[in-house]
Amino acid sequence: MKELEQLKTWLEESDHIVFFGGAGVSTESGIPDFRSVDGLYHQQYDYPPETIISHSFYVRHPEEFYRFYRNRMLFPDARPNAAHRALAKLEAQGKLRAVITQNIDGLHQAAGSREVLELHGSVHRNYCTRCGESYSLDDILKMDGVPRCSCGGTIKPDVVLYEEGLDQRTLQRAVQYIRQADVLIVGGTSLVVYPAAGLIDYYQGNKLVLINKDPTARDSRADLIVTGKIGEILGQLVPDCG
Ligand code: APR
Repeated sequence: MKELEQLKTWLEESDHIVFFGGAGVSTESGIPDFRSVDGLYHQQYDYPPETIISHSFYVRHPEEFYRFYRNRMLFPDARPNAAHRALAKLEAQGKLRAVITQNIDGLHQAAGSREVLELHGSVHRNYCTRCGESYSLDDILKMDGVPRCSCGGTIKPDVVLYEEGLDQRTLQRAVQYIRQADVLIVGGTSLVVYPAAGLIDYYQGNKLVLINKDPTARDSRADLIVTGKIGEILGQLVPDCG
């Protein structure tokens, strides 16, 4: 496929690659995405998932929120796939500067990536809403129902819920990386959720690559579109990561 050859050349030539990804990067690790046919948002619940993982629902119905969160958003046994490994290797080779992700699963760090900007937070960071004490994912998994701190406060995951703002510092760093990118690879995201999806408008180069199974909202903006499974694609292009 000529698109793969073109991407391979751009990867070989560049030492200033930035990656921006979404849930599609983790589906080959067994974590469903949100908007594919078998994605989270197409499964039956009492309320639409976007309603459940919102700030107001968390405040009003913490028990229901945590039941959904534990059953549908925690995948402690998931392991990095070839996409995560390839990106970590490109960083180790000094070619990739940062991974900017909408995912909360921590798989990029588990694969060895060091500069990872988590726009929507992480399931690995949890804190008491009363005293600020930090808790790990394991701590949350050991508790039942609504996790409580030793001080009696409720523990909240450091995950950006609907109606909540993104961390401004992380957003600013993401914009800086994208502005300075030579090659921007966008993968495994439908690009429908803002402000994350709007970040790609800060890219000023002419090597915007979209790697996705389905068409995205921003295909017309891409300089190169590679259609398919990102783990397979990056696993082929970056040796020893397949
Ligand atoms: N390889 C490539 N693309 C894939 C793969 C794969 N293995 N699996 C799924 N995809 C594509 C799908 O075709 C889809 O376009 O990844 C995209 C995933 O899109 P979404 O499910 O919308 O996930 P994402 O874009 O990350 O959603 C953004 O929405 O609800 C919020 O906070 C949530 O971070 C999430 C945000």
